[in-house]
Amino acid sequence: MECRICSGRLHQFADFGRQPVSDAFVTPGGTASEFFFHLAVGVCEDCSMAQLLHEVDRERMFHDDYPYLSSGSAVMRAHFDALAKRLLATELTGPDPFVVELGCNDGTMLATIADEGVRHLGVEPSGGVADVAAARGVRVRKDFFEAGVAAEIRAADGPADVVYAANTLCHIPYMDSILSGVDALLSPGGVFVFEDPYLGDIVARASFDQIYDEHFYFFCATSVRAMADRHGFELVDVERLPVHGGEVRYTLARRGARTPSSTVAGLLAAERAARLTEPATLRAFAARVAANRDDLVALLRRLREQGARVYGYGATAKSATVLNYCGIGPDLVSFVCDTTPAKQGRLTPGSHLPVRGPEAFADPYPDYALLLAWNHAEEIMAKETAFREAGGRWILYVPTVHTV
Ligand code: SAM
Ligand code: TMP
Ligand code: ZN
Repeated sequence: MECRICSGRLHQFADFGRQPVSDAFVTPGGTASEFFFHLAVGVCEDCSMAQLLHEVDRERMFHDDYPYLSSGSAVMRAHFDALAKRLLATELTGPDPFVVELGCNDGTMLATIADEGVRHLGVEPSGGVADVAAARGVRVRKDFFEAGVAAEIRAADGPADVVYAANTLCHIPYMDSILSGVDALLSPGGVFVFEDPYLGDIVARASFDQIYDEHFYFFCATSVRAMADRHGFELVDVERLPVHGGEVRYTLARRGARTPSSTVAGLLAAERAARLTEPATLRAFAARVAANRDDLVALLRRLREQGARVYGYGATAKSATVLNYCGIGPDLVSFVCDTTPAKQGRLTPGSHLPVRGPEAFADPYPDYALLLAWNHAEEIMAKETAFREAGGRWILYVPTVHTV
């Protein structure tokens, strides 16, 4: 198996077996035609990029019925609003600035830019969510971003001061095409800013559910710097972010165009000290993950024997890996509640737990709730205080299996 970035040799370090498409929520009765693939992860011995070993076709994941909505979390809405305001104040200050967002989804970030009347374009292949963005006044092109699309945007709209992508770049295996597209699109002094789950946090927290079909790459400063270098870019800033279980926001500029911040050298040194991208470290992570799986299954079986009622909370894409890797079905968790309309009334992929609206959670409260959306724990626990007051307990499996 070859690295998708540099063709180097990959060392497999984790195998989650047969897994469904994580956002393919199934209609009851439609389970016979589900698609499965082999979810395994490796790391490149040359460029250090951690990545999936098998790829799912992009059209199977991102299409008109793609259900995920960025606006589903108040914390994320505030996060993107703050980022938009920062870009407006720092990078988009010229006479007629232009920003392009890859994977703009329902327009949560670009709506703030549009409201300021600043030139922008979202590139979003999933038609349903792109329509939501357009209805909010965001300019969207329904397409997968790649080199050819970038050249067309450059010809029609001119160079971009900022290309931005949140939780999108790590979804795209064809990185050569993306980075040559960014190269064609970006102005000489422009920046490519992207934020994605951080390999360092995944390993530190044993958050193995960050590994699923859509998350093809697991970035860190070491691998991003090597990837940028191949295309004449330089990693000039890194910023740790608390969202989605721990992310890093990377800023790339054309080589020599900007002075790198000291945070870059700091994170590179920390990754070296932790031996973050060495196969032995990643195999140790996989061993901790297997132990957590055994603990979680044992706990859920014990609760079933005791006759306890257990619901899931948050039908995240991440939960596909947990539920299918642990073999958790409706016998262990009755259903999952989730605020996303397109997921409700359907079954979780592969594991077939019914998805219900958030109102089902209190009707009546369960004894235990498996917090599948643990990355939104603070927000969810703050709005569900009555659950604990009624005697309910949350089950978490990151960084270890515990109840609170
Ligand atoms: N940026 C939003 C956020 O952080 O909430 C949405 C993230 S969502 C997990 C990933 C998005 O990337 C989806 O809306 C998907 O349709 C889009 N996407 C996938 N491949 C893409 C590509 N090649 N170009 C642009 N967008 C893409
Ligand atoms: P994410 O982890 O990919 O952001 O997905 C979060 C999922 O959890 C999404 O389907 C929406 C759902 N959710 C709730 O049901 N209630 C909530 O309060 C929050 C924040 C998310
Ligand atoms: Zn490589």
